[in-house]
Amino acid sequence: MSRIAYVNGRYRPHRDATVHIEDRGYQFSDGVYEVCEVKDGRLVDERRHMERLRRSLAELRIRLPMTLPALSVVLHETIRRNRVDWGIVYLQITRGVARRDHAFPSPDTRPSVVVTARNHDRSANERIAADGIAVITVPENRWPRVDIKSVSLLPNVLAKQAAREAGAKEAWFVDAAGRVTEGSSTNAWIVTRDGKLVTRQTDHAILRGITRTVLLDLLKDQGLRLEERPFSVEEAYAAREAFVTSASQIVMPVVRIDGRPVGNGAPGLLASALRRDFHKYADSV
Ligand code: PDD
Repeated sequence: MSRIAYVNGRYRPHRDATVHIEDRGYQFSDGVYEVCEVKDGRLVDERRHMERLRRSLAELRIRLPMTLPALSVVLHETIRRNRVDWGIVYLQITRGVARRDHAFPSPDTRPSVVVTARNHDRSANERIAADGIAVITVPENRWPRVDIKSVSLLPNVLAKQAAREAGAKEAWFVDAAGRVTEGSSTNAWIVTRDGKLVTRQTDHAILRGITRTVLLDLLKDQGLRLEERPFSVEEAYAAREAFVTSASQIVMPVVRIDGRPVGNGAPGLLASALRRDFHKYADSV
């Protein structure tokens, strides 16, 4: 089956799905994006993703060139046309096409909208979760507004590649004070030896992950001890468990950090339970 992408008002076969060379996303990374989990052909947490999109656009003063209900129709139609059962839908909005000049183009420049969707291999993802993943740590070198989900991801790309080359699946950024901010495409969590769940508070230094937000809600009902604060690399090395969260990885146990085993070197009980909880939640919305 050939894949179909939505580009500025039209559904096109992937090979013909193109944007102009002077699109500001292409030239300046002047745009934002969202990645949502698709489960049984449905969008998980559409409302939260749309709220975050609106916020990212507002922070960069890019207007949404269509109504949210119209955008929702496009997201669902792209999922349908690509027959996505379990996977992701990707949405990107840039400031549009204009002669190259750093400052904003004329206000009537129409922002570009691209939507793609694809299936992920669910059983492969479950197998990876059953083994857990390795992460490495890298120095934080991103701009101080990574709470905006901008397509400007070069440090994230380089960090992920460094992880790949080290035989790991994710890289955790570490700030100047030696504390983990987040992963290159995930939020970072640990469970301390005394059973406290720790993840960094949402300030401008991390993306407010939707998976993170949902998990916090689910945790409230379980009476677990939670601390939203930065944790150091040393604390992570000494943790009982570690895991990452994102729309595509859900809750993914971390079993090695910089080559050192986390806990007993196997996926943690809590991380595995939270993964099951998240799956259940996604089935219910
Ligand atoms: N990544 N932090 C960063 C830097 C991210 O890129 C992501 C998401 C997250 C988790 O956010 P959420 O739970 O809303 O997916 C945290 C997406 C999946 C990506 O870039 O592919």
